Amino acid sequence: MANILEIQNLSKNFQGLKAVSNVSFTVSENSITGIIGSNGAGKTTVFNMISGVLLPSEGTITYCGNDITGTKAHKYSGLGIARTFQIMKPLRNMTVLENVLSGAMFGRKKISNTKEAREYAAEILKFTDLYDKKDMYPKEMGTPFKKRLEVARALATDPKLLLLDEVMAGLNPTETDEAIELFLKINNEGITILLIEHVMRAVANLCEKVVVMHHGEKVSEGTPSEVMNDPYVIEIYLGKEEQ
Ligand SMILES: Nc1ncnc2c1ncn2[C@@H]1O[C@H](COP(=O)(O)OP(=O)(O)OP(=O)(O)O)[C@@H](O)[C@H]1O
Ligand SMILES: [Mg+2]
Repeated sequence: MANILEIQNLSKNFQGLKAVSNVSFTVSENSITGIIGSNGAGKTTVFNMISGVLLPSEGTITYCGNDITGTKAHKYSGLGIARTFQIMKPLRNMTVLENVLSGAMFGRKKISNTKEAREYAAEILKFTDLYDKKDMYPKEMGTPFKKRLEVARALATDPKLLLLDEVMAGLNPTETDEAIELFLKINNEGITILLIEHVMRAVANLCEKVVVMHHGEKVSEGTPSEVMNDPYVIEIYLGKEEQ
């Protein structure tokens, strides 16, 4: 299967700190791929480079066969790449519907008037099971719904590639199951997903491939069971539990 994304020798230095060091991996079209690793491993920094928030110190990012390294963040929704943020950024003074509308307006979808935009946003809210909350403000909602809103807003840009940064953190087991279901449904629509996640059950249920990062480097890659049986990965995770 063709690769929608190819990361080659990606590095990011922050004043002497090698946050990401020579990381390469591919994401095949229509797949769900995971990135796991301990705190500070460099996962979000990789996302920030893939989504144009940070310029790589070295390396290239190829998307749909084109080198997009250095493309500015505001051009990304036009390319069909959308992301959520680990630190949630809902537009506070806007309702749930208006948050999703803002995604729709800046996305790839050809929308010619407000009525069409509202209909499209309503469709996204129904798809993400947020429609009954459309007139609420983000601050009135709990974490699981705010995370879902982030996903809905990204989805409204009509992406081909969706980057999810720990959207299942802090969810209880039922909410995690609901999130897993939503991501499978999104993927079923032909949207490729690259997700950073600490919840291993979710990774095991969703991802066909997992990239493991540690101290800025890629240390393992394979199916969920392959990486979880990798002695070095076990050592990293057990090491963490002992701390
Ligand atoms: N803008 C920045 N300036 C300086 N250092 C940064 C910046 N962003 C990240 N770092 C550092 O780079 C390293 C990697 O951080 P990053 O956020 O990518 O890790 P992460 O794997 O996403 O961790 P977590 O699981 O905690 O979210 C950390 O040491 C972090 O402090
Ligand atoms: Mg992070």
